[in-house]
Amino acid sequence: MEHELLTIKNNAMSLIFDATDKRELEEIKLQFLGRSGELTKALKGLPKLSADEKPKIGVVANEVKNIIEDAIRQKGVELNKTKPVLQKIDVTEPGIKPEIGHLHPMSLTLFEMVDIFKKIGFQAADGPDIETDHYNFEVLNMHKNHPARDTQQSLYLDTRNSNINPGEILLRTHGSNMQGRIMEKISPPVRAIYPGKAFRYEQVDASHGFEFWQLEGLAVGENIKMTDLFGTMTYIVKEFFGQETEVKFVCHNFPFVEPGAEAYMTCTVCRGKGCSFCKNSGWVEILGCGMIHPNVLKAVGYDPEKVSGFAWGMGLSRMVTLRYQMDDLRLLTNPDIRILEQF
Ligand code: PHE
Repeated sequence: MEHELLTIKNNAMSLIFDATDKRELEEIKLQFLGRSGELTKALKGLPKLSADEKPKIGVVANEVKNIIEDAIRQKGVELNKTKPVLQKIDVTEPGIKPEIGHLHPMSLTLFEMVDIFKKIGFQAADGPDIETDHYNFEVLNMHKNHPARDTQQSLYLDTRNSNINPGEILLRTHGSNMQGRIMEKISPPVRAIYPGKAFRYEQVDASHGFEFWQLEGLAVGENIKMTDLFGTMTYIVKEFFGQETEVKFVCHNFPFVEPGAEAYMTCTVCRGKGCSFCKNSGWVEILGCGMIHPNVLKAVGYDPEKVSGFAWGMGLSRMVTLRYQMDDLRLLTNPDIRILEQF
């Protein structure tokens, strides 16, 4: 009998513990304490017990009854407290925007530059990163022993196990490799830009990378003059950086142009006043340019007596850092999300 009572208690307690609402609790109460409930029925057997067993079992039965009643009461209080709260939803509240990716500042700059050039009649072309000595140097009036080759710290490919002569293939040191490739294919007039990467054996620091982006281009036709070059470059820079930006040209030598020049623009960091970014000059160098050398025109099959043209090579990575006033080129190749998120 005592064992039966304890089983009833254990069953009741586990059901009470698991009850999730008041209706369920009421049913449990009926199941054990109701008129025909399990405990009530068991208690009905008390009178049949022997005289010395009766008081002992009577005490246990009473205890079980009290424990079950207490547990039901307590659970009832608990369930009252945890009444489900109706959630209020403000349907007018703005939603959470899902994060979507965006273009890298390098791509933003590149696409905008290409659009500006397209507006004035230039078409964009793509070229190889791995180039032959012929297109990287030879066509460009830089023969094997030309001293200017030393200024282009070149990265040659290891061709030992092939039939290619050593020194014949390299990572292009500038986008000018496309000059020969384009002019050989298209007869004048031609206006083209060819953005892409260039590679040099450089000591990497805040303003030098061993790989960097350039936007090079050319325009060849009848009667194209140096003033066309100045006008085009100035127009592009002002379109991209704003009309208040100034551009100046200074003499410079490149073997594939004659005359050659370098262009400088107002420093965007100090607006020309002088700062550490522009080494206190107020000006920043942005591109090399010039009138295409007659030797180059001849090498691609053009007649320098009939046509003339200009070419330039703009540092595209430099454009990005100037636009966003970054003081370190390496930020452009850093995958740090805290930097990329700022664009
Ligand atoms: N290729 C030159 C460089 O990378 C730039 C340049 C291009 C200069 C075309 C003149 C004409 O430095």
